[in-house]
Amino acid sequence: MDRALLLLSMWALTGTVSLQDSGSCPERLVGEEGRRMCPRPCKADSDCGSKRQCLCDGQCGLSCVAPGRTCPWPLPHSENAEARLLSPTHSFSALLEVRCKPGFTLPSGMDATIRRCQGDRQWSGDEPICTESPELAAVQTCPLPEEVTNTFSIQGDAAVGTSIRYSCLSGADIVGSRENFCQENQTWQYPHPICKKVYCQPPTEVEQGYVVAVQKTEYEVGFDIHYLCKRNFLLDGPQMITCLSNGSWSAPPPHCRARCLIPAERSRVMIGGVKRWPFDVTDAMVPHGENVTFFCKHPRKQCSFTATQTCFNGKLQTPACYLEPTWLQYKLFPHRLVSEIEACEPGDVE
Ligand SMILES: *[C@@H]1O[C@H](CO)[C@@H](O)[C@H](O)[C@H]1NC(C)=O
Ligand SMILES: *[C@@H]1O[C@H](CO)[C@@H](O)[C@H](O)[C@H]1NC(C)=O
Ligand SMILES: *[C@@H]1O[C@H](CO)[C@@H](O)[C@H](O)[C@H]1NC(C)=O
Repeated sequence: MDRALLLLSMWALTGTVSLQDSGSCPERLVGEEGRRMCPRPCKADSDCGSKRQCLCDGQCGLSCVAPGRTCPWPLPHSENAEARLLSPTHSFSALLEVRCKPGFTLPSGMDATIRRCQGDRQWSGDEPICTESPELAAVQTCPLPEEVTNTFSIQGDAAVGTSIRYSCLSGADIVGSRENFCQENQTWQYPHPICKKVYCQPPTEVEQGYVVAVQKTEYEVGFDIHYLCKRNFLLDGPQMITCLSNGSWSAPPPHCRARCLIPAERSRVMIGGVKRWPFDVTDAMVPHGENVTFFCKHPRKQCSFTATQTCFNGKLQTPACYLEPTWLQYKLFPHRLVSEIEACEPGDVE
């Protein structure tokens, strides 16, 4: 608060009573009131003649004033501010509040000030001028709906009085105005543009698989394509892909992966945690991605250890340590087959 406002606040507290006690009224500040004429100074009513009283007149100090005299009211209309009387009348010592409209401030940075009706029939202080406050003005923007920010990359902050530039996130061409202006009333000068319609190209064929969709030369955004694999082929990848708004498919097409023939006949193998003879497995085949564990013989001891291989799209090799038993071994000594002897102790295998 500046000094004038402090003094005025004192006035607001002490009210409009006649302040004969010079202790409550500031001394006349010589020189600081250059723009106003202070009435004759006084110490008591007797100094002032019959029509005037000795009253405290703000920074003029105790002065001879006619208490019935009034200050201008109503005030001329101001575009950026509103004035309101805080006292029942607009006569000497009445208070007036001037408040800036939202977004505007006084040079002091405050948005309101109080003026007092002086002995010279003028309201105290400088004529308040409310100017647009830069911080508050920046907050005023034009709306950018979600469907616009989802479709475009926007250059500019959509503030009142500024322009923005659109570019389609999809990289597609713009139909409409590439630039727009945010008007005073927080509306756009032009309608938002649109992005040229986007299509996805037909997806690549999948070997050993089918596309479950109508064949087209181009597919609209949001279009789904489902994939199926031929019998005995396993789908590796997404079962469905969607045409995205940027003209790309949501994922590359899947693969249809072939089963693997188990490359062993006369040994049991572990598949899915179960030890089985290959001829007991349907078609003696495992699906793509399946792990097959083989039994290998310890080079020096009469015990077995395991080695695992994974089926990848029709290819499954035996591990290097695996030896297929001969027909004779299999027929004559089935209990001595490597897959049937006891497992090596953990310490036997490095
Ligand atoms: C906003 O201002 C513009 C230009 O001044 C005017 O054309 C438009 O009608 C106004 N819109 C609204 C909603 O007031
Ligand atoms: C299309 O959008 C997707 C997801 O937003 C993104 O992963 C892909 O790279 C984009 N493709 C192009 C060609 O921009
Ligand atoms: C096969 O083994 C690998 C590596 O140990 C594992 O990540 C995968 O899940 C296994 N596959 C199956 C079908 O169990």
